Amino acid sequence: MEKEVATRRLAELRELIAEHNYYYHVLDAPRISDTQFDLLMKELLELEALFPELVTDDSPSRRIVGAPLTSFAEVQHVVPMLSLENAFSEGELAAFYRRLQKNLGIERVTLVGEPKIDGLAVSLYYEEGKFVRGATRGDGYRGEDITDNLCTIWSLPLRLRDRITAEVRGEVYMPRQGFERLNREREQEGLSLFANPRNAAAGSLRQLDPAVAAQRPLDLFVYSLVNFNSARGNSQWEILSLLKELGFKVNEHVSLLTGLAEALNFYKNMNEMRPALPYEIDGVVFKVNELAYQQKAGFTSRAPRWAVAYKFTAEEGITRIRDITVNVGRTGAITPLAELEPLLLSGSVIKRASLHNEGIIREKDVMIGDTVVVHKAGEVIPEIVRVLKEERRGGERPFTMPDHCPSCRKEVYRLPGEAALRCLNPACPAQVVERIIHFASRGAMDISGLGESLAAQLYHARLVNDVGDLYTLTAEELAGLERMGEKSATNLLGSLERSKKNPLHRLIYALGIRFVGERAARLLAAHFGRLPLLAAAAYEELVALKEIGPQIALSLQDFFRQEETKKILLKLERAGVNFQEEQHDRGRLRMDLAGKSFVLTGTLQHFTREQAREMIEGRGGKVLSSVSKNVDYLIAGEKAGSKLEKALDLGITVLGEEDLTALLDG
Ligand code: IVH
Repeated sequence: MEKEVATRRLAELRELIAEHNYYYHVLDAPRISDTQFDLLMKELLELEALFPELVTDDSPSRRIVGAPLTSFAEVQHVVPMLSLENAFSEGELAAFYRRLQKNLGIERVTLVGEPKIDGLAVSLYYEEGKFVRGATRGDGYRGEDITDNLCTIWSLPLRLRDRITAEVRGEVYMPRQGFERLNREREQEGLSLFANPRNAAAGSLRQLDPAVAAQRPLDLFVYSLVNFNSARGNSQWEILSLLKELGFKVNEHVSLLTGLAEALNFYKNMNEMRPALPYEIDGVVFKVNELAYQQKAGFTSRAPRWAVAYKFTAEEGITRIRDITVNVGRTGAITPLAELEPLLLSGSVIKRASLHNEGIIREKDVMIGDTVVVHKAGEVIPEIVRVLKEERRGGERPFTMPDHCPSCRKEVYRLPGEAALRCLNPACPAQVVERIIHFASRGAMDISGLGESLAAQLYHARLVNDVGDLYTLTAEELAGLERMGEKSATNLLGSLERSKKNPLHRLIYALGIRFVGERAARLLAAHFGRLPLLAAAAYEELVALKEIGPQIALSLQDFFRQEETKKILLKLERAGVNFQEEQHDRGRLRMDLAGKSFVLTGTLQHFTREQAREMIEGRGGKVLSSVSKNVDYLIAGEKAGSKLEKALDLGITVLGEEDLTALLDG
């Protein structure tokens, strides 16, 4: 393509993508499908790859491709980023209001009420409408340059609808749902969990690799405009609507309030709305509306006198630890759990809190019998915030982690570099049951009716020893179980049957391979298209995939090499469980066959050997005539003879014709 044509098309694509991005991420009202959007992005990326010199600063590709940094540069804030004075009661809010009345010399003060988003303050510099730099608050005077990470937030406009030069401030946060998903993935991958969405957002913004930040579900609300060259607003309320017009996401619950009573009412409403909001807020902020009055009220050294944060009471409670028990997870991780005297916290009864690992127990100095502060955020597992040591009466007992697995009694180990103790016995009953539960869970094979208690029942009745056995269960066998009615049995068999048709990525995830979360499973399914290809994949091919690191690659290889795995896969295949990904990503499947050698044997159904050779060589692969240990793949058609035997002897990966087609179809 000519450069001129490319220049025009790229400008068009940037425009289109920015527009649809705005509909989707800012207005939450998409006008095209995700697939259509992906196609636009794909076209842009391909064109930019052809003409790297045409990449602009406001190209949407900045949202997904940033180079890792070794450290963040320092940014000096032109206007210091101050914090807010807090109010914790109606009385304190009333005092704030009276001070304003007095200082401003007016009876009725108009305030803007805004939810106080529980995230991190950021400052965003725009020059002539273009996003040029973004920084953290830091100590208020100097922050860190996190421009590339901010670019990964889709709702942040890279170009404004007006060529204005200004600094915009707002709050980066992680929506509850995204936070929960992230923690679920991290749990599956054996990584430490984030305590709350705020910490998760902070950790994500401070990632040196923007590719990691891009995977984190961050979002942004803006609330102020500093130093702007257009005189289009003389109140906070007008600034908020100007920000909206410029293309930013402004919180929808902001409200213009006259007088203290309305302010109090706003606080009450927001507090009631709080649990239902898709993000966390920790209070409301009241700001004097008119900028002239703001100026008149002025600042103290740390905060404006014209604003206040009225904080909600925390979702915390006090209770006692009755006991500390340990739980054995699917991957053998042994986690300590605090068994609590039940308490009511943000609408639900809490009986347990996770203590994560021994290190945390020691760090927080938790003992059995301690009185503790418990915190619960959203649907996350409650946590012990701290021990009230002054409540200790001498009867408290320290807790030590067991040196044997509570389920199978085998010795437990701490693997190098890991915080958790692990039971390494793959046949450990607790692990087997957890694996069945995981296999059936939502996001995995989604087998409704197969939860914790039934999984344990099936295992202990010796009906199911591994997930492969699920598909040979019969109505008679189920009928023999306690509390199992005819209807539930039929339902279970029905959902088992339906689950056979699940796309490959669900199956990969369901197998519970260490470090392979939902995301990695999708990626692997998209790349390989068929399970046998994944099982046979070389280490180099795995790590060549973006986002698949050595840890995942080794874990995959280890998993597929195990005899136990082979047995399970055979059972699944016999049962007719789907091993294919319908919509695999053809672009990505196009693997580079350079350096790979193949031997063809037997009769192929759909092409001649010569055609197969051409196709393999067309991808840079080599086709050899005899089997030796230097061969990577043997393609075995019908009536394959001695070559197949030899390949099996040498441990060479054998692919069928279908696998070859899948490999080449990319
Ligand atoms: S205004 C000079 N508005 O709360 C005042 N802050 O405790 C600047 N925050 O650092 C802040 N939502 O991180 C403002 N609607 C909102 C906010 C908000 C959350 C955070 C912000 C600030 C902190 C102050």
